[in-house]
Amino acid sequence: RGGKRRQREELYQLSKASRLCVPAMNVNDSVTKQKFDNLYCCKESILDGLKRTTDVMFGGKQVVVCGYGEVGKGCCAALKALGAVVYVTEVDPICALQACMDGFRVTKLSETIRHIDMVVTCTGNKNVVGREHLDKMKNGCIVCNMGHSNTEIDLASLRTTELKWEHVRPQVDHIIWPDGKRIVLLAEGRLLNLSCSTVPSFVLSITATTQALALIELFNAPEGRYKQDVYLLPKKMDEYVASLHLATFDAHLTELTDDQAKYLGISKHGPFKPNYYRCRQTSPHTQNAHKHTDVSNRKYFF
Ligand SMILES: NC(=O)c1ccc[n+]([C@@H]2O[C@H](COP(=O)([O-])OP(=O)(O)OC[C@H]3O[C@@H](n4cnc5c(N)ncnc54)[C@H](O)[C@@H]3O)[C@@H](O)[C@H]2O)c1
Repeated sequence: RGGKRRQREELYQLSKASRLCVPAMNVNDSVTKQKFDNLYCCKESILDGLKRTTDVMFGGKQVVVCGYGEVGKGCCAALKALGAVVYVTEVDPICALQACMDGFRVTKLSETIRHIDMVVTCTGNKNVVGREHLDKMKNGCIVCNMGHSNTEIDLASLRTTELKWEHVRPQVDHIIWPDGKRIVLLAEGRLLNLSCSTVPSFVLSITATTQALALIELFNAPEGRYKQDVYLLPKKMDEYVASLHLATFDAHLTELTDDQAKYLGISKHGPFKPNYYRCRQTSPHTQNAHKHTDVSNRKYFF
């Protein structure tokens, strides 16, 4: 219970309190997990989940996506590609600026909610869509969550006597206001794609490979390489996971010349970027580059 973010925080807290009995790999924050599971998987499965449950047409629909992290970016790109008019809400100015530069209007939910056709939450936060927003939504507005378990929409506020719930088909409930207004709630606020569509096996392969390699690395590591602490995956391992999946696309990597490698100050065989390269997480823990292991001179099993 509590989702991956909570589990990650608990892991770091255990480590801080010196209560970890074994070394741990934080695979959730590896590049291959974040960039593929969160971004590309959600980019594809948001549309599938919405279609399977509502058969909605996307062209011209006004959609608010709450949160412009990896999941939000994927959802926004997919919805925009099908002609939806997409608005973004954000608390982080950097992500908000990214949304602006990608061509999305950044607004507060309260500013747009009256004319919105769909609301998608992707924040990992709680009560991002509250009763005050639900009360203002127009008839037929679709509300769903692509983020954190079932906390993002304040469902408790909808379980009151004046509102009627009508279960219209699997994973679809109509919440009916006293004046007849209906809100279409998908998967009772749980993750839309995991509840209502399928997850591409290619993405699962990337995530599962990352997890398996992390376990093998911990198992094979010589005494002393890892202490009772939390580590991010070595960058080289992230690169290895990606390289294993390149064959699917018949993609051919360019090899650095000796001269180019020397110029960049890196090994011809990777890692190709430093650990601090474009820190991709807002968590204070995962921005600690020292939590990576130094792989520059290290031999791995691959
Ligand atoms: N549906 C899926 O298949 C799937 C896949 C991966 C991750 N997730 C979950 O999705 C959630 C988001 O993941 P992510 O990788 O995009 O995280 P992220 O941290 O990159 O992005 C979340 C964004 O939401 C913003 N935010 C936080 N509170 C907000 C609020 N009240 N209003 C507006 N914006 C707010 C943050 O500033 C951040 O930019 C996590 O809970 C994650 O576990 C779901």
